[in-house]
Amino acid sequence: MTRIKTILFTLALALGALTAQAADRATMDQFIDNLMAKMTLQEKIGQLNLPVTGDIITGSTVSGDVVGKIKAGQVGGLFNMKGVQSIRALQEVAVKQSRLGIPLIFGMDVIHGYETVFPIPLALSMSWDMDGIRNSAHIAALEATADGICWTFSPMVDICREPRWGRMSEGNGEDPFLGSAICRAMIEGYQGADLADKATMMACVKHFALYGAPEAGRDYNTVDMSRVRMFNEYFPPYKAGVEAGAGSYMTSFNVIDYIPATGNRWLMTEVLRDRWGFDGFVVTDYTAISEMINHGMGDLQTVSALALKAGTDMDMVADGFLGTLEKSLNEGKVTMEDIDKACRRILEAKYKLGLFEDPYRYLDAKRAKKEIYTDEHRAAARQLATETFVLLQNKEGVLPLKRTGKIALVGPLANTRANMPGTWSVAAASDRYSTLLEAMRRAVGDKAEVMYAKGCNVCYDAELEKNSTMFGREMRDGRPVDVMRDEAVRIARECDVIVAAMGEPSEMSGESSSRSDLSILDAQKDLLEALKATGIPIVLLNFSGRATVMDWEVENIPTILNVWFGGSEAADAICDVVFGDVAPSGKLTVTMPRSVGQVPIYYNHLNTGRPNPQWFSKFTSNYLDVPNDPLFPFGYGLSYTTFQYGPLTLSSDAMTASGTINASVTVTNTGSVEGAEVVQLYIRDMVGSIARPVQELKGFERINLKPGESRNVTFAINAELLKFYNANLDYVCEPGDFEVMIGPDSRNVQRKTFTLR
Ligand code: BGC
Repeated sequence: MTRIKTILFTLALALGALTAQAADRATMDQFIDNLMAKMTLQEKIGQLNLPVTGDIITGSTVSGDVVGKIKAGQVGGLFNMKGVQSIRALQEVAVKQSRLGIPLIFGMDVIHGYETVFPIPLALSMSWDMDGIRNSAHIAALEATADGICWTFSPMVDICREPRWGRMSEGNGEDPFLGSAICRAMIEGYQGADLADKATMMACVKHFALYGAPEAGRDYNTVDMSRVRMFNEYFPPYKAGVEAGAGSYMTSFNVIDYIPATGNRWLMTEVLRDRWGFDGFVVTDYTAISEMINHGMGDLQTVSALALKAGTDMDMVADGFLGTLEKSLNEGKVTMEDIDKACRRILEAKYKLGLFEDPYRYLDAKRAKKEIYTDEHRAAARQLATETFVLLQNKEGVLPLKRTGKIALVGPLANTRANMPGTWSVAAASDRYSTLLEAMRRAVGDKAEVMYAKGCNVCYDAELEKNSTMFGREMRDGRPVDVMRDEAVRIARECDVIVAAMGEPSEMSGESSSRSDLSILDAQKDLLEALKATGIPIVLLNFSGRATVMDWEVENIPTILNVWFGGSEAADAICDVVFGDVAPSGKLTVTMPRSVGQVPIYYNHLNTGRPNPQWFSKFTSNYLDVPNDPLFPFGYGLSYTTFQYGPLTLSSDAMTASGTINASVTVTNTGSVEGAEVVQLYIRDMVGSIARPVQELKGFERINLKPGESRNVTFAINAELLKFYNANLDYVCEPGDFEVMIGPDSRNVQRKTFTLR
């Protein structure tokens, strides 16, 4: 009886919630109907216009006469302005000086934190810590909304197997399962339970779609991909964004099936809205509408109509909608319904953000003073950063360092403030962040001495360095090469250990920062060789926004910690790990190649008809000059402790489509310090109606274990986990045999099989 009562009560609650939702929806619809009834055609088109203003530069075109356009009702929102005062001034123009007083929406690229900067997204993914990632987005929203921003152009969920592409740094690596989990966590963190809450902001999932797969790794380049691959391997994180309730999507620059995403109706309407059920609004990427002219799709009027017809609602910076839609309407190239639909979606977003109720909701100068870059936020960023570093090797146990004796800190990344937060940290206040040198001196106090020499520039080519250190991140040193190198070697000889802070400066990854060579840069490699010749142990800290080719380093430098770009607190976080206050626990979410010629290289590939896991053998799938396998596989990363995996057990060796099989393993910390391990579950569908990958991540759990402690980790495998898109793009699971793999990385796994009946 009590059970029935509980069920009835729960049903009543659910019904109540649904009724309340329907009532909310009806009130919103009514409000927007009334407003739209008063709007002229020009005012409706104005809502679809998103010019850029402010000092933050994320594209080469700037918008003209923004204030005049706001007064004329020709602006729906603005982006990349920083600070409550300047944002308030423009909101006042919209509210007080435009005819209908419709508030503007203010966006920004809040990508991995605001002034408290978290590690770059690629690094965040290496933590496999969904709570930490969710919290990073929550803190970013708190700070950004305290400073006037209510809409972020994040999360960027483009799957990327292409380390030549600089924007690998902005995504979550190569795996769709992990990428989907991160997309959900980010949206939950940004949007919370209520978009109208003053401390939450609207997310924008980008770049829809496939932007992470440009030919030759060159930014903005052509993408060409089968639909089966799109649906199975690249689309899942975008789809997860709809399921998590993301308020907006951004189009990508590239073509899909030879039609630019921004004008691609199949993508923006048939997939995003009709198939997945997205009901928010779509904004273009920066000038993506006018760029369709270069793609050969027609003049500005034609491409603007194409975009609107495709299901794109808001035009970022191109002035295509503003300049041409009225003409297209008069000529019958778009309909009033097309314009109304887009306008309504944008007004709905403003309504959900609470901007009609209070246009100054996010413009509270008192909050800006109190809630940005707080000790609490910084502590969270520091802790999460420690989880992102990946210990690639520690052959002679040089790490962790003791706080004694003399430490030589060398390398171009050792004493730079502006490069610490990493690319796409447009709101960063870099002058408040520590350099590694400062943090290291603080970390050792008077127990040890830290000596410093830069040792070399980023690379010999000054032009390459200039292009890789933009936006106030310049660091070129004018001294001759041998003077700098000799100084570093001299200092190193006086010390017990060398810490080499090397790699890419922060703008060597990110937008328009593609590389054809993925090795450690020439000047730094030469310095490393000179340091190695001293015979003093070296710890290589590799800063990077992508997978690096480190074949020589792996052979020659026994200790390598990949630190990516760890955000505003990176320097302290690196010291936490280097001195062993925290054991490293990051695991690779991109495969590390041996050579750029292996790219694209990724763990969840198909088998060939002539597979060859070894090196060369004639008439099999291999290279003459390099093995097939990577330098380090997906999922890989060491700790200061060791974890032992007990036998893998399956609760059954057969299941039906409605059943579940539990796959379990007991993991024990067999070392002497506390550490975190990411236990990974992979599955292979042995036979399918289409060729299936050799393994796919299907579960993971990050666990913390004290020395000697054991934990049982169990993954429930059900039919949902076994589904894929078949040749007709139906989402199915097919009966047959499956191989289950569990281990500490994608290569080092135990295997068991079961049958789906
Ligand atoms: C980038 C987007 C970004 C936009 C606005 C573009 O160049 O591709 O990721 O959100 O600029 O700054």
